[in-house]
Amino acid sequence: MLLFTLKFVDDLCGAMVALGFTTTSNGLLQMTDKRLPELAKSLKRELLPNHVAIIMDGNGRWARERGRPRVFGHRRGADSVRAVVEAADQLGVKVLSLYAFSEENWGRPPHEVMAIMTLLNTYLVKERDELLANNVQLRTMGRLERLPPKTLRLVRDTEAMLADNTGLVLNIALSYGGRSDIVEACRSVARRVQAGELAPQDINSEIIEASLACADLPPPDLLIRTSGEQRLSNFMLWQMAYTEFYFTSVHWPDFGKEEFVRALHEYMLRQRRFGLVLDEPKERRGGVAGAAVAAERHE
Ligand code: FPP
Repeated sequence: MLLFTLKFVDDLCGAMVALGFTTTSNGLLQMTDKRLPELAKSLKRELLPNHVAIIMDGNGRWARERGRPRVFGHRRGADSVRAVVEAADQLGVKVLSLYAFSEENWGRPPHEVMAIMTLLNTYLVKERDELLANNVQLRTMGRLERLPPKTLRLVRDTEAMLADNTGLVLNIALSYGGRSDIVEACRSVARRVQAGELAPQDINSEIIEASLACADLPPPDLLIRTSGEQRLSNFMLWQMAYTEFYFTSVHWPDFGKEEFVRALHEYMLRQRRFGLVLDEPKERRGGVAGAAVAAERHE
């Protein structure tokens, strides 16, 4: 029986490899690069999300699995940032929001906080010329006044340097919390009421939304969260009311272009209803054909 089981597992693994799958260090099945061009080719620009938000999770676990300090995982995580920004830009995504540091993250050990800030500094200095050349804009959201002065200066300098760009908006959440964002919006609306500019009964979703961080950006169409957790962790709470969620067990340092394309592909096959009732598409999950049907129903 044991021999039979082992043979079955062996055959199964062989078949998966033949199909273009490989097993990662943490035992996950992943498609190898040779399948990537095919998958990327099947992406349809008109079906792509305009705004992709990412909760980059699992740097610490990735490092621990390799017997390395957590900071090592963050460093490799910065490489994934580079790869995904490049992919988003190349594929024509309009906005990429990255949850780099939450308000809650200030409670981490000081040396880890400092290491993340240093990585941010390095990323901004190393990447700004390339971002400029690729027409990428930089935006930030969160309580930036809490950042170390050097990081804040580099963020502001880079934002200014890329201000005339018109391509991909790279929106980095720093010292960010979704609840604080909503609280701030409520305060600003309350001030308008206090000043007599607005009557309480005239407050509506549009008015609150217009007072949130990045009110001029469209809400995320797709949220990607890596490393197996399935929660929002206080990220863009208001803006994600109708966002499609994509969860993967891949840790952030292992998340590259291939995984990004896979997430976009999955999004392409989703049917978004925004609380409405729509006719059932003829073919819901039939690859590109199914996606084309779903596309007609997107907006
Ligand atoms: C979450 O993993 C990751 C963070 C809180 C930090 C993210 C920072 C980077 C990717 C590097 C710098 C960023 C940019 C934009 C250049 P975790 O530490 O919570 O992982 P764990 O859940 O496995 O412990």
